[in-house]
Order: sequence, then structure tokens, then C-alpha cells
Amino acid sequence: MCSPRSCLLSWALIMCCLMMGPSYYVAAVKKNSCHVQDGRADCSHLSLREIPPDLPTNIFSLDISHNRLVGLPPVSLKLYPGLVHLDASYNSISKLEEGLCQTLPLLQTLNLKHNQVHLLKNEDLSHCTNLISLNMASNRLKLEGEPFSGLQSLKFLDVSINKLQSATLGSQPQLPRLVKLNLAFNEFTALKREDFSFLNQSSFLQLLNLSSVPLNTLETGCFKPISGLRTLILDGSKIGTRVISKVCSALSDTAIDALSLKKMNLITLTNTTFIGLNKTNVTFLDLSSNSMSKIEDGSFQWLPKLQTLIMSDNNLKRLTNSSFMGLESLKKLQLTKALVKSSSSPIINDFSFQPLSSLESLILAGNKALRITEHTFTGLTSLTELDLSGSSYTSLKYMTNRTLISLAGSPLTKLNLIGTDINLINNGSFSFLRNLTILLLDYNFIRQSLTGGEFEGLDKVQEIHMSNNYQSVTLSSGSFVGVPGLRVLTLGKSLRAEALNQDPSPFRFLSNLTILDLSNNNIANIKESMLEGTVNLKVLKLQHNNLARLWKSANLGGPVFFLKYTRNLINLQLDYNGFDEIPVEALRGLTSLEELSLTNNLLNSLKDSVFDDLTSLRVLRLQKNLITAVRPEVFKTPMSNLSLLVMEKNPFDCTCDSILWFTTWLNKTNMTSVPGLKDQYKCNTPLTYFNRSIMDFDPLSCKDMTPFQALYILSSTAVITLIVIALLVRFHGWRIQFYWNILINRTLGYSDAKLEEGREFEYDAYVVYADRDASWVERRLVPLENEMCRFCLEDRDSVIGMPQLESIVDNMNKSRKILFVVTESLLKDPWCRRFKVYQALHQVIEASRDSVVLVFLQDVHDYKLSRSLFLRRGMLRSCCVLDWPVHKERVPAFHQKLLIALGMTNRLQD
Ligand SMILES: *[C@@H]1O[C@H](CO)[C@@H](O)[C@H](O)[C@H]1NC(C)=O
Ligand SMILES: *[C@@H]1O[C@H](CO)[C@@H](O)[C@H](O)[C@H]1NC(C)=O
Ligand SMILES: *[C@@H]1O[C@H](CO)[C@@H](O)[C@H](O)[C@H]1NC(C)=O
Ligand SMILES: *[C@@H]1O[C@H](CO)[C@@H](O)[C@H](O)[C@H]1NC(C)=O
Ligand SMILES: *[C@@H]1O[C@H](CO)[C@@H](O)[C@H](O)[C@H]1NC(C)=O
Ligand SMILES: *[C@@H]1O[C@H](CO)[C@@H](O)[C@H](O)[C@H]1NC(C)=O
Ligand SMILES: *[C@@H]1O[C@H](CO)[C@@H](O)[C@H](O)[C@H]1NC(C)=O
Ligand SMILES: *[C@@H]1O[C@H](CO)[C@@H](O)[C@H](O)[C@H]1NC(C)=O
Repeated sequence: MCSPRSCLLSWALIMCCLMMGPSYYVAAVKKNSCHVQDGRADCSHLSLREIPPDLPTNIFSLDISHNRLVGLPPVSLKLYPGLVHLDASYNSISKLEEGLCQTLPLLQTLNLKHNQVHLLKNEDLSHCTNLISLNMASNRLKLEGEPFSGLQSLKFLDVSINKLQSATLGSQPQLPRLVKLNLAFNEFTALKREDFSFLNQSSFLQLLNLSSVPLNTLETGCFKPISGLRTLILDGSKIGTRVISKVCSALSDTAIDALSLKKMNLITLTNTTFIGLNKTNVTFLDLSSNSMSKIEDGSFQWLPKLQTLIMSDNNLKRLTNSSFMGLESLKKLQLTKALVKSSSSPIINDFSFQPLSSLESLILAGNKALRITEHTFTGLTSLTELDLSGSSYTSLKYMTNRTLISLAGSPLTKLNLIGTDINLINNGSFSFLRNLTILLLDYNFIRQSLTGGEFEGLDKVQEIHMSNNYQSVTLSSGSFVGVPGLRVLTLGKSLRAEALNQDPSPFRFLSNLTILDLSNNNIANIKESMLEGTVNLKVLKLQHNNLARLWKSANLGGPVFFLKYTRNLINLQLDYNGFDEIPVEALRGLTSLEELSLTNNLLNSLKDSVFDDLTSLRVLRLQKNLITAVRPEVFKTPMSNLSLLVMEKNPFDCTCDSILWFTTWLNKTNMTSVPGLKDQYKCNTPLTYFNRSIMDFDPLSCKDMTPFQALYILSSTAVITLIVIALLVRFHGWRIQFYWNILINRTLGYSDAKLEEGREFEYDAYVVYADRDASWVERRLVPLENEMCRFCLEDRDSVIGMPQLESIVDNMNKSRKILFVVTESLLKDPWCRRFKVYQALHQVIEASRDSVVLVFLQDVHDYKLSRSLFLRRGMLRSCCVLDWPVHKERVPAFHQKLLIALGMTNRLQD
């Protein structure tokens, strides 16, 4: 078939595969190989000592970080000439080999962070003209000559954390396209006039990071070569106020725009600290985390262009009306936790913010025990957002129409009073905030009945958030009468349980309301009309209440259909309410509903078609109920379009009736996500499936119910039949056997008697007849006798002297057939009935002979026949049942038939 050589080859191949198989398998399991996808190879964290040679050659990105490489030999990189991005950070590379960029001409990104590169020479990067980003952070760089001078395209250079002793990276102009330079965490302490002169042609340079560099000397004009600089980061350098003012002076000739001065120990700002910036256009200044306790009056007067000032996390003791003097362009002032931690409470003087006429956003969150007076915010004529959250203002505890009066001149649109310890809102407290659209009052201690005056004047308000007010607010019919434009109202965990008992409903004017949160209130009683008029309601949150009674059919006055006016609902949350039933009408008409949440209730069997109107449903949550069955009559419609189903932790009944449809649906669906399906959906019943996943349910066990029933019927019938047969055999055994024999013979036997069979018998037929019929026998049968055919007639052929019984038995034995001449007389003849017939039948059965011929002289009823002779016509072959013809001309035919009947075989066929 095959030549010896090719046979050997294929044999070798097979062996090879067999031996390689397991090792491939191990590799896959340990996952110690690179992950390659879309041209990117990820070989990180593999303890590699060299670059793997077996990656696809067309990769453009290689991540080989966190390994044990000691170099990047061009030999191994030559395999991947298309590399654009190479990440070799976190290795032990001590040296860049020449020709790296000749091997990888397309390289744009090279990351060598956290290696041990020391000497960097001219040639090392000389060909890297396409390199855009070079990260050499956290090495031990020592520059020899001009190693960066070839980087014509470089935009980002990071040489931070290298213990560099100078900011100078070269002596001649280079890096013409540099945008960002990171020199952070190096050890130089001075910036000399010519240090940045190597960048004096880098007109794109925008950002310089000098974080944590311990500067103390700055020569004037040190930033002059990089005067296009826009952002300077000095975070964490702890250089103090004196050096900062030097930095500022040095920056005076630059285009500096943003200054980040975080964590620098600027305890005090003096009125000259920023003087150097007065010629610049700084718009962004971050002074957070400086432990700053004092701002001298006029400190910011040099920053008229400043737009954003961040002073979070400081220890300011006092703000005065001169603190922010000169900040006429400021739009955003961030003072989060800026006035905290102090022996005496920090103070905001009256008119402190008055200079800030452009301020739009003031954030005073997280401050300590401040006092708000009637002039605190005076002058903020542009303020649109005020955030006072998380602070304790003694003056806010009981709000009156004077408390925030200083904001009367501000076009405030958003007021954040979350967590400000408010206890009571008096009428008119917000009445002058005519532009307000969002009012946040969550997490306070408001305990009062809202009568309507509280929100008076808030003509434009669209959102009132009042969640988490310790369930001590009550509503009245007029609570929201002054705010008809409300779109969002949250009252979660804020209302007393009986807060919504009133009629008419407090919400009836809120035709624009789209979101209403009434959750976590323990509400047990609401009126059917509660949501009448809220025609635009889209989101309704009612979870964690006690609404179960409202939907009980046994409820006095019938179930309360409180959703009947909210036909545009999109999101409905009814979790944790103790619901154990849902009336069929409860969710009628909610055809827009996309999300329904009914978790943690006591729902068990849901009524058919209860969800049938929910044709838009996308998310259904029903986890932790008592649902046993998921039937199509209930769930087919709501589940037809779902993208998320959460129904875990129900005591599912894993039987065909209850779960088959659901598991089939789950198996089929590819557009609905069902998280936790594998381990959170467990069968509770029946015992065989207890605690197993519903997906273990075997659908085949339901498939062929009908054959199983048939089989059951069949087998039980068989058992009953057997019992009947056993009884019959016990009591009528001989008769059955007789019938059986005859039956078999009738079906199978038509063959003629064999010749020798005849010779065993002396007579062809033993004739049984009544005495009365003797004359008929004499006249009609006897003449038929000849040498071929002999009858045995008891009267004529019995051996003289033999007892009669013995003679009958003997003669029957000698006869091949037994011929009954049936008349009424025969049936009455005691001899015939008692003995001859019995004997005849006995003989027939004993000898297994089908040997009975009946000749009817009269029409005898079958019933009588069977009673007397234990025979029926139907049990014999039709040719063995003969009728004596009435018409004479048929007598020859009768004879013929008789002879045929007598000539038949007696034997049962084998
Ligand atoms: C700075 O404050 C001092 C007093 O503390 C004052 O004499 C001086 O004129 C102020 N300088 C400027 C520029 O405001
Ligand atoms: C900067 O401040 C000086 C006085 O300290 C003032 O003479 C000069 O006009 C200011 N320059 C600008 C641009 O405001
Ligand atoms: C500051 O902005 C003004 C115009 O807004 C401009 O004329 C001036 O040149 C800018 N100063 C600097 C240093 O960029
Ligand atoms: C403030 O409320 C008091 C009574 O509480 C009232 O006399 C006064 O007129 C109100 N002032 C304003 C400006 O509404
Ligand atoms: C505030 O409302 C007034 C009128 O009520 C209006 O003229 C002004 O433009 C509004 N301001 C803002 C910032 O919306
Ligand atoms: C409801 O909203 C519509 C459209 O935004 C607005 O025209 C209408 O004035 C609002 N209704 C109320 C009562 O504010
Ligand atoms: C789900 O599908 C798999 C294969 O397609 C089948 O073996 C399994 O029996 C099915 N399960 C159900 C519950 O339909
Ligand atoms: C889900 O399966 C159907 C048919 O099997 C297919 O037509 C449909 O695109 C699939 N949808 C998704 C999101 O895979």
C-alpha cells in the first residue's frame, strides 16, 4: 500500500503527536503562555527570561512586563518587526542595546519603567525617530552625551524616579515635539537658568511635572526656555511658601495656565506669595492638602484670570471679605473640608464671598460647625450651585425665611443640603430661590408635616430629594401645591407609616412627576386615588413598605388598584412588601413597563395572565419569593422580550407541570441574561431533584407521557388477564384445553388423515344418538356403510357380555370420530348427557383428537347445546357441523359432506 519510507514517516508522526499531546495539555491548564488577540500579545507575569520566539510575527503590540528579562536583544525582537508598542516594564533590564530601533522601525511606544537601566548613551536611542512615548521612570539613569537627541517625534518623556541630579537632559536643543516631560521624584534641588535650554526649540511643551523634587533654588529666567509651558505640577515637594513665590516669579514670563500645588506645606498664604503670577493668565490653581490655616488678605489679588480654585482638605480658620479679593473671574471655588479641625470653630465672615461676582459653583461640603448669617453669601450674583452637604451648620437646624436670605441675589439652580442636620423647615425658607430647579434635602432629621408653605416660591423646582429623613415627615393634601412643575420627588425612608392616608392625594397636582420614591416607609395604607393625576409617572419606588393587604382578595372592600392611573410607568419596584397575591387587575394597562421588581415577597402561585399587559418588559426581578411553578400561562408574555431575568432562590417544583416550560425557555433564550442560573436556581421538590439545579431537570421524562400511560394500562390488563386465566384453568381446565386444541386444529389442520392413521381404528365413527333417533340412524346412516366406512352403533356392535360402560369406552377408543346425532331427545337423554358425552369429550382431550362431528336433525339452540354437551357450533370446523336437509334432493350432498367430515384427520398438527 505505502512505501516503507512513507509508512515510517506517518508512524513517526503519530508517535510524535502522542508524545506531544500531554505536554500541550499541561501548558493549556497552567496558563503559562502568552495571550494573543487582535495583534496584541500579552506575555506579562510569566517569569520569562527572554522574549518568546513563537508568537505570531504580525503582532503590533507586545506586553512583556513583570518578567525577568535582563535585556532586549535585537535578535529576538527581529522576529516581530511590526511592533508599534513594546512594554518591558518591571524587568531587570540594565542596558539598552544599540539597534533596538533599527530592528523595530515602527516603534512608537517604549515602556521601560522600573528596570535597572544605568548608562544611557548616544547610540542607544539614536534611530528611534518614530518613537512618540518613552517611559524610563524608576531606573538608575546616568546620561552620557545626548541620548535623547535622535527622538524627533517624541511627545511624552518620563524620566521620573531616577535620582537625577539635574533637570538637564542634554546640552543642545532637541526633542522638538515634546509635549509632556516628567521629572518628578528626582533629586536635584536647583533650577538653573540654562537647565531647560535643551528644550528651547520644543515649542509644543505644555506640561512639566516636578512633583516631589526638593527644589530650593530657582534662578530667574529658569523657565524662560520653556515659556510655552501651560501646566506645572509641584505636588508633594514640600518646598514651603518662600520657594513658591520664587517659582511664581520664575513663571512670570510663561504662558502658564494651571498650577498644581498640592501637599506642599503651604501653611500660610501671604499677600505676596503669588505676586509673580500677576502678569500670567493662570486659570487653574490647586492648593489642596496643604494644612493651610491662614490666607492673608489679598493673597489672590494677583490672579484676576483665575477660574478654578481648589482648596480642599486644609485647616483654614477664618475667611474674610478680603480672602478672595481680586478673584473676579473665579467660576468655581472648591472648599471641601477646608474649614475643619480647629480648636475654635472656623468662621466665615459676612461678605467673605462678595468679591466673587463671577462665581458659579461654591462647594463647602464637609466642613465643621459653621454659622450662616444673613450676609454670608451676599454678593454671589452669578452663583448657580451651592453645596453645603455633610457639614453641620447650627443655623440650618431650624430653617426660616431668614436663614438663606443672603442667597436672594443669586440665580441659584441647585442647592445641596444633604446631611446638614436640618430639623425643621419653616414656611418660606426657600421663597427667594426663584431659579432653583434641584433641591437636595436627603439625610437630615426633618420631622414635620409638610403643609405646602415650606416650598413656597420654588416656582421652577423640578427635583426635591428628601430621602432618609428618619421616617418622621407627614404629608397633607397641600404639601406640594406650590411646586406643580416637580418631576422628581424622593421621600424614601422619610415618611411616617400613616403619611399617605389623606384624600385628596398630595400628589394630585404633579402632572409632570416622572420619578416618585416612596420606598422604605413602612406604609400600609394608601388610597386607590393616591396617584390620580400623575399621568407622566415613569418610575415608582414602593419597595420596603407593607402593602400586602392592599392586593389581597380578602381585603375589606376588595383589592386596592393603586396603579390604575399610572399607565406610563416604565420602572416599578415593589420589593419587600409581603405580597402573597397579585390580583389579575393589579398590573393591567402597564404596557410601557420595562422593569418590574417584586423580590423578597411571599408570592407563590401567580394567577394566569396577571402579567399579560406587560408587553414591553425588559427586566424582571422575582428572586426570593415562594414561587414553585413557572408556567407559560403566567410568564409567556412578560418573558417574551426580556434582557434580564432574576428569579433565583425560589423553591422551584421540578415536575413537568411546573418547570418544564421554564427550563426549556431558559435553554432556548439567548437574549435574556439570567445571572446565577447555574447555582442559584434550585429545585425544592420533588425529593429526587431536591437542592439540584433546575437545569438538571430532565425534559425527556415529560416527553412521552401517553406511551407511559398506555404501558401502564397494558401491564395492568396483563396481570388481570393472567389472574382470570389462572382461575379458569383451575376450575375449567379441561374445557379450555379442549377448546384450545380444537381451536388450534381448526386454524392449522386441513391435511387429510394419513393412511396408516385409519388402520389404528376399527370404526370410522362412533355414533351417539338417543333411543328415539335409532330409526333415523337405521334408515340414513347404516346404508352408507361399506368396506371403507364403518360406524359403531352401541346397540349393534357392543360385545355381548361386556358391561355397558366398559363397552362404550372400548368402542369409543376403537373409533376415529365421534358422531353426535343431535336432537332435543339427545339433549334430554340421561345416558348421553351424563356419560357418553363426558366420556367422548374426555377421550377427545386425552387423545388430543379433533374428532367430533355433529349432525343436527333439528334446530337446537346453541345455548342448550353447550349446557348439555359442553359444545358449541362455533368451536368446530364448519365442515364438521352438518344439518340434515329438509329437501330430499340435498340428501346426496349431505352424504358427501358427512364422508368429508369423517375423512378428516384427528391428529393435532405438530
Ligand atoms: C501686604 O500686607 C501688608 C500688611 O500685612 C501690607 O503692609 C502690604 O501693603 C500688603 N501688600 C500688598 C501688595 O497688598
Ligand atoms: C503686577 O503688579 C505690579 C505691582 O506689584 C503692578 O505694577 C503691575 O501693573 C501688575 N501687572 C499686572 C499685569 O497686573
Ligand atoms: C493673557 O491673556 C491676555 C488676553 O486675555 C493676553 O493678551 C496675554 O498675552 C496673556 N498673557 C500671557 C502671559 O499669556
Ligand atoms: C418671614 O416670616 C415671618 C413670620 O414667620 C414673616 O413675618 C415675615 O414677613 C417673613 N418674611 C419674608 C421676607 O417673607
Ligand atoms: C433666574 O430667573 C430670572 C427670572 O426669574 C431670570 O431672569 C434669570 O435669567 C434666571 N437666571 C438663571 C441663571 O437662570
Ligand atoms: C410640565 O412640563 C411641560 C413641558 O416641559 C411644561 O410646559 C409645563 O409647564 C409643565 N407643567 C407644570 C405644571 O409646570
Ligand atoms: C438543554 O439543552 C441541552 C442540549 O441542547 C439538553 O441536553 C438539555 O436536556 C436541555 N435541557 C432542558 C431543560 O431543556
Ligand atoms: C438568538 O438566536 C436566534 C436564533 O437562534 C438568532 O436569530 C438571534 O440572532 C440570536 N440573538 C442573539 C442576540 O444572539
